Amino acid sequence: MSSVEVTGESQGTRLLAWIDARFPLSKMMREHATEYYAGKNFNFWYVFGVLAFVVLIIQLWTGIFLTMNYKPAALDAFASVEYIMRDVEWGWLIRYMHSTGASAFFIVVYLHMFRAMLYGSYKNPRELLWLIGMLIYVALMAEGFLGYLLPWGQMSYWGAQVIISLFGAIPVVGDPLVEWIRGDYNISDITLNRFFALHVIAVPLALVMLVVMHILALHETGSNNPDGIEIKANKGPDGIPLDGIAFHPFYTAKDLVAIIIFLILFSAVIFFAPEMGGYFLEHANFEPANVLKTPEHIAPVWYFTPFYAILRAIPDKLGGVVLMGGAIIVLFFLPWIDRSKVKSIRYRGWGYKGALAVFSLSFLVLGVLGTLPAEGVYTTLARIFTFLYFGFFVYLYIYTGSEKGKPVPERLTYHG
Ligand code: HEM
Repeated sequence: MSSVEVTGESQGTRLLAWIDARFPLSKMMREHATEYYAGKNFNFWYVFGVLAFVVLIIQLWTGIFLTMNYKPAALDAFASVEYIMRDVEWGWLIRYMHSTGASAFFIVVYLHMFRAMLYGSYKNPRELLWLIGMLIYVALMAEGFLGYLLPWGQMSYWGAQVIISLFGAIPVVGDPLVEWIRGDYNISDITLNRFFALHVIAVPLALVMLVVMHILALHETGSNNPDGIEIKANKGPDGIPLDGIAFHPFYTAKDLVAIIIFLILFSAVIFFAPEMGGYFLEHANFEPANVLKTPEHIAPVWYFTPFYAILRAIPDKLGGVVLMGGAIIVLFFLPWIDRSKVKSIRYRGWGYKGALAVFSLSFLVLGVLGTLPAEGVYTTLARIFTFLYFGFFVYLYIYTGSEKGKPVPERLTYHG
């Protein structure tokens, strides 16, 4: 080793010691990476948390550059987006990364939540982790909705019109509330301005803070795993869980593979199908907002459509709003609705496996129905699947009072 390297290393060590005396850098690295032990049997379902984090960074980063060229004014917004797409250097790439990122966010977050349902990750002691996750989900929906008004296209305008007017169904305070949200008698420049403020600063700030809390809560309890066994229950003489491996370097290396695959798929969409047939960027939104012309079918972007289908399945406006809200709120209570002591689906009864399959199918079918007109057989189907969606939670509460599953092993099952 040359003397330069020795000096370099000792200088680095000295710098770290200097920092550590003033800021807990090494301590944090140990607690959250090199000495954070997670079950060694993580499978592909465990990459979506990290991918959600990657998408969050992409959205924040591209959002900053979009903001540099976007104009939040009713007369300029649409044209400024076109300007970004045609004249700003790499503007098209930044915009497509952001619009594709919005859909990618929901894809990875839905898979991330589904994983929690597969392995009972919301159960004791991780209830708070789940609740924070649910707050992230709600913030993410708010962020998607607010951002969608910004390009000021036909669907931006009319989509916002439909969703904001839903608050009008609330008795007594409904109408003043709608006016308060819009800041005007109609969706206008004022509404666009406040949506911009909320989209670029308020909600992202809340999201970032919630994600930090999410990771802190996760690292307090420790990660669950596909067997749903608490690895802390089996520690070696050194105090390290026998079935655990350090997050860094083992899972950082594994996650890197997932990140690379994700980025390849993400790039493929951006370069070859950024509109995704009208699902990621709706066709009607290539037309500037027109207050006098309602689009034929108003449908939100795909990630809201399951809830939109529930809203339209109910003939009464207030009833639809209550059920739509209820479909999200009920998820907050999942840790207490599911009373089973067994976490992982691997050791749970067929009653749970079947119910989860029906629930997932209902969510997907409602998602498709939300994109179709609310008429005839589609409405009937939407009612059936809304019933199944809510039925899942009622059934789960009753069934898990006496669920019979398979015996849960003492130690993780791992075939290296
Ligand atoms: C910006 C969005 C989110 C980010 C960046 C994020 C990040 C993460 C990360 C990095 C992990 C650890 C790795 C993993 O288990 O995949 C994790 C675990 C977890 N997350 Fe999230 N998450 C997000 C949203 C959500 C949402 C919406 C929910 C549920 C409503 C949720 C529930 C959970 C649960 C229950 C765990 C523990 C899983 C286990 O240990 O089995 N997260 N999250």
